[in-house]
Amino acid sequence: MSNPSEAELIHMFKGIAFTTRSSPELLKSLDNFDAREDDVLLVSYPKSGTHWLAGVITKLYNTQVTLTSPIEFGDISKLEELNKLSSKRIIPTHLDYNMLPPNFKNKNCKMIYISRNPKDTAVSMYHYYRDNPNLPTIDTWTAFFDLFLKGDVVCGSWFDHFLSWEEHEDDKNILFLFYEDMKKDLPKIVKEISSFLGLNISDNDIQDICKKSSFSEMKSDTEKENSDPSHTVCALTSNRRLIFRKGTVGDWKNHFTPKQNQRFEEIFNEKMKLSKM
Ligand code: A3P
Repeated sequence: MSNPSEAELIHMFKGIAFTTRSSPELLKSLDNFDAREDDVLLVSYPKSGTHWLAGVITKLYNTQVTLTSPIEFGDISKLEELNKLSSKRIIPTHLDYNMLPPNFKNKNCKMIYISRNPKDTAVSMYHYYRDNPNLPTIDTWTAFFDLFLKGDVVCGSWFDHFLSWEEHEDDKNILFLFYEDMKKDLPKIVKEISSFLGLNISDNDIQDICKKSSFSEMKSDTEKENSDPSHTVCALTSNRRLIFRKGTVGDWKNHFTPKQNQRFEEIFNEKMKLSKM
């Protein structure tokens, strides 16, 4: 059987590429989504450490919480499905700020935005494109590098996504995190998250959560199917096994040529000139 065509896998909504796993009807209806004050949103550009963060957050609660699939994943029945959940909802999303259902903003829901060095994000996304049957075929790293810089990839431009959220950096209900900080000192970040969420977690529990959230533990949990392999927090796959690849900082150095690095830096500096990053 031949690979599905790009048109079968991708559609555009408000200028941003989505996979057909996010139906246009669902995307159109998101503006009517009924948020609850205690919803927590877990926001990221793909391949920034979303599953890692989700793994940490769900371990912080000792009350019943439901980690849902991403709000933009599925068809029009999604809103009803989320409405029916009686427990507290942790809702992942890759939407940029402007596309977020307004109700989350009006109700001041807590949101956690995780970001990662875009060079590593690009490399991680390249491998994801190659391994994930829900994404178009990519022949070479060079071809993907160009698409990434142009923003011609799912979820659009990394720069636009980051900037749309960074504009709200000072909003009290939004916490900004970096993948690299989690790698450097996970207990510190876990403490930061728990205090942002208003949870009181002992140092022992923090140590335990960090241990259970290490790359090797999470990867082996998924391989042993201790966690539901079909539960991903990424709208682009239902296969958790595609997520845990290397889990390192700086893998971009194994992919970028010096010329690509220079071009990336130039575009980064231009696009991010007003950013505090
Ligand atoms: P790599 O492809 O560089 O390995 P997302 O969850 O947003 O799709 O991000 C996936 C990236 O996060 C992958 O990066 C994956 O390996 C990494 N990751 C997942 N769990 C991790 C963990 N516990 N520690 C470090 N990195 C992790």
